[in-house]
Amino acid sequence: MKRNETAVNADLPSWLQDEAQNGLRTLLQENRFCWLVTGAAGFIGSNLVETLLLLGQDVRGLDNFATGHWRNLHEVRERVGDAAWSRFAFHEADIRDANACAKAVAGVDYVLHQAALGSVPRSVKDPKTTNDVNVSGFLSMLDAARVANVRRFVYAASSSTYGDEPNLPKREERIGNPLSPYAVTKLVNELYASVYSRTYGFHSIGLRYFNAFGPRQDPDGAYAAVIPKWVAAMLAGDDVQINGDGETSRDFCYVGNVVQANLRAALLGELAASEVYNVAVGGRTTLNDLFSIIQEGLATHGIHYGKQPTYQPFRAGDVRHSQADVSKAVKDLGFTGLFDLRRGMTEALPWYLAFVAGEKAPA
Ligand SMILES: NC(=O)c1ccc[n+]([C@@H]2O[C@H](COP(=O)([O-])OP(=O)(O)OC[C@H]3O[C@@H](n4cnc5c(N)ncnc54)[C@H](O)[C@@H]3O)[C@@H](O)[C@H]2O)c1
Repeated sequence: MKRNETAVNADLPSWLQDEAQNGLRTLLQENRFCWLVTGAAGFIGSNLVETLLLLGQDVRGLDNFATGHWRNLHEVRERVGDAAWSRFAFHEADIRDANACAKAVAGVDYVLHQAALGSVPRSVKDPKTTNDVNVSGFLSMLDAARVANVRRFVYAASSSTYGDEPNLPKREERIGNPLSPYAVTKLVNELYASVYSRTYGFHSIGLRYFNAFGPRQDPDGAYAAVIPKWVAAMLAGDDVQINGDGETSRDFCYVGNVVQANLRAALLGELAASEVYNVAVGGRTTLNDLFSIIQEGLATHGIHYGKQPTYQPFRAGDVRHSQADVSKAVKDLGFTGLFDLRRGMTEALPWYLAFVAGEKAPA
């Protein structure tokens, strides 16, 4: 049913206004489903919540604020408006609590499971907590979704699962040995998803994200991801530190692509087994090039960062090169990775400028 509080297309994120997304957009604007987004107060989760609310969907969010923030949910509320926000229900809960998972998932059509402890270095420092959340918590949520008989369980997998597999680009069926405790947990998620498929006939989709970035990715803290960390450092005039020689490469993926992949994975027709898909652009950018791209992006906003980066030792557990083959997602999901790194950076930088300006403003 189309309702009058659904956002007009011009209010939707720019990726969703693209012609290639017409079918996806219309499907959601004309049907009202109930979604559970776990990790809703985090970076990717809050972007999913925002898009779904703008598309007229009913959304439940679940988060325990381990790394997420109320400010992300407040920002979503501001961006979608009160009418759309009235379709959002929040559960402050831990995914390791099976009862809380069961309560949150009751009556839900689709689960987009994002809650986890991210970061390779965090997992190297404290493997047990990462395992508790990412494996036990994952299993609680997966099982609750199975018992509730949801239409589809889509979960955040990770490119870290490729581990020491040397070939580029990475193809879904060819993985190596995990290089960090975090990578182990993400691999175990895929194993459970596959076993649930065979044992219970409960099929799900894992999305192996490759270095996502965009608005609301936390620039603060010891485990911040590279793009928000460097943007914040450049805006503050601080040193930018590169781990290793700067020739480590990644397939940086704007969050609009990640949201698109989630919605497509949820709404795809029938599934005969559990599947995994790479979610990225198919590009490969070295950290040295990333440094220049951010520098150039900030220059377009009149911010000129003149320092050279400083080079640190390589970090334990890091994969050396990463680049996705996204042809499986293109073929099966109709995925179109519209935002390459530069276009995504153009979208993301204004948010970082506003965030840092807001942080510095007097209370
Ligand atoms: N950002 C990336 O580049 C990337 C790459 C690969 C995979 N992923 C995966 O995508 C998902 C989302 O990552 P993100 O970048 O948005 O990180 P994030 O830290 O911003 O979001 C994760 C959210 O999960 C919540 N959470 C953590 N433990 C929880 C628990 N026990 N119970 C309930 N909520 C809990 C956090 O509070 C946070 O809001 C994660 O599963 C992550 O492993 C992210």
